[in-house]
Amino acid sequence: MTHKILVLPGDGIGPEIVAEAVKVLNVFTAEGNLSVALEYANIGGIAYDKEGQPYPDSTRALAQKADAILLGAVGGPQYDTLDRPLRPERGLLAIRADLGLFANLRPAILYEELASASTLKPEVVAGLDIMIVRELTGGIYFGQPRGIRVLENGERQGFNSATYTESEIERIARVGFETAMKRNKRLCSVDKANVLEVCELWREIVEKVGKEYPEVELSHMYVDNAAMQLVRAPKQFDVIVTSNLFGDVLSDAAAMLTGSIGMLPSASLNSSACGLYEPIHGSAPDIAGQGIANPLATILSVAMLLRYSLNRPELAERVEAAVEKVLASGVRTGDIYTEGCRKIGTVAMGDAVVAALQG
Ligand code: NAD
Ligand code: IPM
Ligand code: MN
Repeated sequence: MTHKILVLPGDGIGPEIVAEAVKVLNVFTAEGNLSVALEYANIGGIAYDKEGQPYPDSTRALAQKADAILLGAVGGPQYDTLDRPLRPERGLLAIRADLGLFANLRPAILYEELASASTLKPEVVAGLDIMIVRELTGGIYFGQPRGIRVLENGERQGFNSATYTESEIERIARVGFETAMKRNKRLCSVDKANVLEVCELWREIVEKVGKEYPEVELSHMYVDNAAMQLVRAPKQFDVIVTSNLFGDVLSDAAAMLTGSIGMLPSASLNSSACGLYEPIHGSAPDIAGQGIANPLATILSVAMLLRYSLNRPELAERVEAAVEKVLASGVRTGDIYTEGCRKIGTVAMGDAVVAALQG
């Protein structure tokens, strides 16, 4: 069976890191172990430049037919003054909403060799293996009303709405519990129920769904405490389930526990098999075009693609093992570099993973 994979390189370092991730897929196809048809399309700033929209209809048509989507990153300072509906970030939000990708899995795993690359003490992060389950198509990112209005006194006021329906909470809670069942059976739901009504409902529904999973030890934590605990003692967590905005912030913090934001992959899933796979970091305009970005988060996103959309866990494991082997060999991109290692660029890192897969 040939799997249709839509590749959306996007902006900034997006094309550089995606090219390395595609090499990994090519290893498996060359071996005759995998059959994929890759199609390329535009998203984000490049889509606006070429087609006038950050999520053009042409991309949408391909996305809806794809078995899986591999995305680099979107955004850049040159787009920050565009009307909001035309901005690259809107393209990303649009594809997530369009495909109903409500469940965003962001695994923060510390590769042993990177213990000293983290800004935290090695003993705090050694053995770290957390899964953040972030709700991705609701909450304050999408709630209505939103905008900037002029008040009676002539002053402008910006406003957004943090909304969640019971069914939106229930389905992401279920993903949280199911994920915990496959791991160490501990789920921490992160909210701000002491202040926000939307979180009061969140907590109530998570509790209700929890009754169906008596084996899972459920706890609740306020988001401010969770941010502190992630830095103080991150290994206390197994699975975290949280809302869109809180998950966005906490996953960048969790990324730093693993050495670099350039290490964290993600899978965005709906209730069908099609998923979107992307690193959690952005387009890194400060290093774009220099050939120094870390492609490992995107390569590890390919592993997630193989596992969740193509149902090829054995290939996913090979990718993860290859990354481990490359790190053990002592090569590093700048973001994970520590003394005594050999610094290499984006392409050399991709080549090293390919060589490890072939070896
Ligand atoms: P960013 O994640 O792009 O960069 C933050 C810092 O991390 C930068 O110093 C960057 O150089 C570094 N970094 C990120 N990825 C790296 C990698 N693979 N290797 C080495 N270093 C890496 O976040 P930002 O600077 O806040 O945002 C830049 C642009 O990206 C903005 O337009 C933002 O909206 C967009 N963004 C997009 C996504 C996405 O496409 N999913 C995610 C976050 C931000
Ligand atoms: C991410 C990004 C996006 C988000 C932006 C670019 C819309 O930060 O994927 O983490 O906030 O979800
Ligand atoms: Mn983010």
